[in-house]
Amino acid sequence: MSLHRQPSHEELHQRLREQYAEIARLAGGLAHEIKNPLSTIRMNMELLAEDFRDSDSPRDRRAMRKIELVERECQRLHDLLDNFLHFAKAHHLNLQPSNLNAQVRQVLDFYRPKAAEARVEVVDYLAGNLPMVLLDREAFHGALLNLVLNAEQAMPNGGQLVVRTYGTPDGVALDLIDTGVGMDEATREKVFDTFFSTKRGGSGLGLPTTRKVIEAHGGRMTLQSEPGRGTQVTLKLPAPARLPAEES
Ligand SMILES: Nc1ncnc2c1ncn2[C@@H]1O[C@H](COP(=O)(O)OP(=O)(O)OP(=O)(O)O)[C@@H](O)[C@H]1O
Ligand SMILES: [Mg+2]
Repeated sequence: MSLHRQPSHEELHQRLREQYAEIARLAGGLAHEIKNPLSTIRMNMELLAEDFRDSDSPRDRRAMRKIELVERECQRLHDLLDNFLHFAKAHHLNLQPSNLNAQVRQVLDFYRPKAAEARVEVVDYLAGNLPMVLLDREAFHGALLNLVLNAEQAMPNGGQLVVRTYGTPDGVALDLIDTGVGMDEATREKVFDTFFSTKRGGSGLGLPTTRKVIEAHGGRMTLQSEPGRGTQVTLKLPAPARLPAEES
């Protein structure tokens, strides 16, 4: 008979949690470490491009095309690392009493110039008298922007994006409805898997990060989609009972 006591379920769980935290910390550190040499590579590629840009010789033009390709791939790696770091820290929140509509307006105002360019008509219906909610505004902006960009990318020939806020029995909710390409069932099942993407150059971290952020707020995120018809994403956030009501 062994002298060692079997670890309890709780102890095993605790050990797993610690291992997970360690791996997450290592991965975050690794992403940071990769960013430094990567930015040196990008900077030097840019300098190299300057030397070749105005040349007419076929050899230089070929070199220029290769430089541009390396620059593009560096940019992709850089974005991937940024997205990964955002995902990794999505559960660290700095909560502030916030007016949902004000936060939504900020994101939409920021996005409007780009919407016009992409021929996306943004229509908002923001309900008055919503209760205040506790938000990490920066994380929430990032989360919302992920959804808005997904909607835009689903409407390559333009379309409509409806953004709607309303009260719920225990808080507030936000719908984003696009008239884009939609998703079939196989895609719908995988959209919250990390690194799942149907886009060229997509990191597949947008929706997983958004969901992690919303759930860290005690909220819920759901998605409905029909191929060829469009997609509706709903975010629900709880409102604490003791915060004052917002003005508009
Ligand atoms: N509004 C939408 N309409 C249609 N498909 C969508 C929509 N939003 C997400 N998807 C699908 O879900 C996949 C995962 O989305 P997610 O935002 O996680 O990653 P991504 O957009 O592919 O890449 P990234 O956000 O990192 O640029 C997308 O590749 C796309 O297939
Ligand atoms: Mg995305």
